[in-house]
Amino acid sequence: MQHSAAFASDNAAPTHPAVLEALIRANDGAVGSYGRDPFTERATAQLRTVFASPEAEVVFAFTGTAANVIALSAAVRPWHEILCSDVAHALLDEAGGPVRISGAQLTRLPSDDGIIDAGELERRVARRGDVHHSQPRIVTITQSTENGRVWTAPVLREFIDRAHAADLLVHIDGSRIANAVAALGVTPAEAIGDADIVTVGGTKNGQMFGDAVLVRRPELFDGIRFVQKQIGQLASKQRFVAAQFEAMLTDDLWLQVAAHANAMAARLSAGVTALGFRLAAPTEANEVFVYLDDAARDRLSDYAVHQPDALTPVFRFVCSWATTADEVDDVLERLRGRS
Ligand SMILES: Cc1ncc(COP(=O)(O)O)c(C=O)c1O
Repeated sequence: MQHSAAFASDNAAPTHPAVLEALIRANDGAVGSYGRDPFTERATAQLRTVFASPEAEVVFAFTGTAANVIALSAAVRPWHEILCSDVAHALLDEAGGPVRISGAQLTRLPSDDGIIDAGELERRVARRGDVHHSQPRIVTITQSTENGRVWTAPVLREFIDRAHAADLLVHIDGSRIANAVAALGVTPAEAIGDADIVTVGGTKNGQMFGDAVLVRRPELFDGIRFVQKQIGQLASKQRFVAAQFEAMLTDDLWLQVAAHANAMAARLSAGVTALGFRLAAPTEANEVFVYLDDAARDRLSDYAVHQPDALTPVFRFVCSWATTADEVDDVLERLRGRS
């Protein structure tokens, strides 16, 4: 068997056919550049409607890292502090991008698989005003989290209320926001609560590329379009990013495919648990984290799967719109030792 990347990441998935068709349709004649095109207008309107944010501005980017960097950098000045969880993508997997571009300090807070206790915020802001310390300005959380957990609507509401009471802005890295919405069975607006700014993932959901920043309080992020331009994220042919969002957001395709990915993860999670393997985190969206011993890992040697920490035998399986039940069952068969 060829080495399979089926569970390596949702980034390993192909592009959804509806997106490819939308790109072909968008490839017709000349339209305005740098976002002055009807595709951008329509995708912007859809994002505002879907997230019940009529006043929001929408800024598009090619990658999730860029979207996070744009959102966080527009929120801060160089003496500010950005708070994040100890497993945040912005902290561990963006090569220091948010720090480099914003000049602000990024501070890790303890978390339960990415879910931060609101009390941590109050602890951090206690030293505010002391000239020797960076000044806490914004907290970034991830929905669904890097460890595959979701913030439920009440927990999120309380967290954001307490962040705002502590005079902190809230950013959500929603690189997998579709999976969270589908998992929670709430509206997209409920899945982001009263967050001030949100990265809305497109790439992992089924697009070829493209993430967006939903700026819900534009007055607090007034330089954001300049940051987007400075770091090379203002696409001259932005129609091809916007058309992808339009395709996914039409008729709730983004949520249907996310629900499928979650269902595949649930199938895998139940299967490995039934075989006696231990989960490293509860499976709440489209990612399964499981302890595998050497023998089990050997039986899965045809599969490329991510091991977040080389010293801990926990492996991450990510399901996507394209994951099939047969692929899940093949993994389970191999773990059973029959193939
Ligand atoms: C939680 C999270 N945020 C953001 C990203 C965006 O990453 P990229 O810049 O690779 O699109 C990822 C991708 O792995 C992620 O898992």
